[in-house]
Amino acid sequence: MSDSERSFLFLVGSSRADGNTETLARHAAERLPPTADRHWLRLGDLSLPLFEDRPREGEGPCPAPSGLAATLLQATLSATDIVVVSPLDWYGVSTATKLYLDHWSGWMRVPGLDFLERMRGKTLWSVTVHGGQDPATAAPLVGTLRHTADYAGMRWGGALLGHGSRPGDVLRDTAALGRAKTFFS
Ligand SMILES: Cc1cc2nc3c(=O)[nH]c(=O)nc-3n(C[C@H](O)[C@H](O)[C@H](O)COP(=O)(O)O)c2cc1C
Repeated sequence: MSDSERSFLFLVGSSRADGNTETLARHAAERLPPTADRHWLRLGDLSLPLFEDRPREGEGPCPAPSGLAATLLQATLSATDIVVVSPLDWYGVSTATKLYLDHWSGWMRVPGLDFLERMRGKTLWSVTVHGGQDPATAAPLVGTLRHTADYAGMRWGGALLGHGSRPGDVLRDTAALGRAKTFFS
């Protein structure tokens, strides 16, 4: 696929605006080929409803989403590359990110949508900032996303990890900023 055919969807799952994770992801995005399309969505702004597993515990059909969930579904299906931009929250993805993934379980069961088939072959990426000292504690988050990619038949792009606690801290993590420069190449 040529660069001009690629479309990157950045899904920001931080619970604060202009957080460290978005800052790191924007550094990485600066190095995308100029012809690659890119879209940014803040999951917190979309106020997705809690996912309700109806009607029969993971089996029966689900209604097509409406409103903001439909916007998010359309953005997801339109992208060739999905970048999960989530801080490390309690060793996993943020609440907003997890809720987004929960909605996949419903979209998989919308009759005629063929969600999983349409996800196959896309690439899933992860950008994360953690506040603690040990980057190894981000392994559960990375594992969640890698397994999700496997499950959906997606390619795994990789994980970009940075360190920071207060907003702007990640700008002092020069090693992470260096990795950001080549992350998407
Ligand atoms: C609810 C919550 C849970 C957190 N859990 C962890 C954690 O498990 N490990 C860690 O290293 N940092 C943890 N942190 C710190 C954040 O990862 C850190 O502040 C990060 O910079 C936040 O990214 P953001 O600015 O993009 O929101 C947590 C912060 C919050 C608010």
